[in-house]
This record gives sequence, C-alpha cells and structure tokens, in this order.
Amino acid sequence: MHDATPTTGLREHVLLFSRFLRSPRTVGAVTPSSRAVAEAIVEHVDFDQPGRIVELGPGTGALTGPIVERLGPHIEFLALEIDQAFCERIQRRWPAVECICASAEQLDRIAAARGMTPVDHIVSGLPFVSLPQPVTRQILESVVSVLRPGGTFSTFQYLHAYGMPAGAAFRKNMSGRMGSEPDVRLVMKNLPPALVLTWHKEIASILPQRSRRAQGPWLRA
Ligand SMILES: C[S@@+](CC[C@H](N)C(=O)[O-])C[C@H]1O[C@@H](n2cnc3c(N)ncnc32)[C@H](O)[C@@H]1O
Repeated sequence: MHDATPTTGLREHVLLFSRFLRSPRTVGAVTPSSRAVAEAIVEHVDFDQPGRIVELGPGTGALTGPIVERLGPHIEFLALEIDQAFCERIQRRWPAVECICASAEQLDRIAAARGMTPVDHIVSGLPFVSLPQPVTRQILESVVSVLRPGGTFSTFQYLHAYGMPAGAAFRKNMSGRMGSEPDVRLVMKNLPPALVLTWHKEIASILPQRSRRAQGPWLRA
C-alpha cells in the first residue's frame, strides 16, 4: 500500500498560480494536477524492476510525490524543471530527489552525462499545447532518443484542449515518433478534467502492440 497523503497544499496552489501569472505559456496551468491524475500517470511505471525514471516539468510536485512514494533503491530518478522557483520547492520537499533546473529540450544531453540512458519511463507535466512548437519538437526528439524500446512516455491533456488542433497535432506527432498509439484514460477528478496519455515506444517487430494493451478502463486513442 502506498501512502496517499496529498502532495498539494495551499502553498503549492499559491506558488503555481503566481508562476502562471508570470509565465502563462510555460506553466500552462493555474492549479496543480490532482492525486487522481498522478495515480493514472504512474500506473504504467514499473517500480518493481531496477530502472530509470525521468520527470519533465514537476512544477510543485503533484506527480513527483506519488513517484517518490514508490521509489526503491533500485530505481534512479531525475527531474528536469525550467523554473528555478519550482526546482527549489522540489529540492526542499524531497532533498533526495535530483531536480535539475534546465529545459527538457536538453534531456538527451543531461541523461547521457549522468549515465542515465536508456530511460525506462518518462512522465511529463509539460504544457505541450501552449509551448512554442520548436521547443515541443526538440523535447519530443530528446524523449524518444533516450527511451528504451518498450519504455513509456506518459503525460496529460486537459479535456477542453484534447479536441483542439494543437492537442491533436501533439498526439499525432508523438504517435509517429513512438511508433504506437497512446492508451488514453479520462480522469474527471481534476480541475479541469484531464486525459492521461501513455505511449509505449515501439519494439520493432518483437512485441505486437496489442499484446501490451492495458486492462481495465484504459481506452485507445
Ligand atoms: C502544468 S505545470 C505542471 C506541474 C506539475 N507537473 C503538475 O502536474 O501539477 C508545467 C510545468 O512544466 C514546466 N516547464 C515548462 N516548460 C519546460 C521546459 N521546457 N523544460 C522543463 N520544464 C518546463 C513549468 O515550469 C511547470 O512547472
């Protein structure tokens, strides 16, 4: 059993909102993700096997908390956050977590320099719909280059953005790069409701996509 203590309090709400006012396109949200979104995101992460996990854009730590609760000594974990104020908050809350203040565009270089490639799972809270397209492109390139075949990339899109051209373009772009369609899960317990998306990086002709289809309420995109 995992401790389901909320990782988001008033302090985190205030910090995220104040950073949003300062940089709306980079922060992309006025409130941290809910515990329900975080649980849906970590569902595809295998915490039992030795491995490497990277989080992109941890912000105030809404996804980081549930990851940290499950980490064992056999797992390496690294977070990349562009905003110094968020980085400092993460380091204060979880001193054992390595949170680097850098753009996720540099993931490939940073992971390689730390001997952290290939990566098994990448979870992201990045607001891809509002980030400049060249930044998104560079991040996705970096993500796909460091993930091992069969590794996962999980993120979320708000329900209202899911049908927008930018939201659909992001999913198409990622599906093309990963060689697979995402598993999609609707999470109503979030403000606003969100869809959690998980791609598995294609294992060329070894493992048919359908054999690793998730059970339960997961849908295909
Ligand atoms: C919507 S917030 C998500 C925060 C948290 N993960 C959550 O789900 O509540 C987006 C976060 O991505 C960070 N971010 C935006 N662009 C980034 C980039 N290029 N590299 C790293 N972090 C970035 C922002 O500073 C912010 O902390």
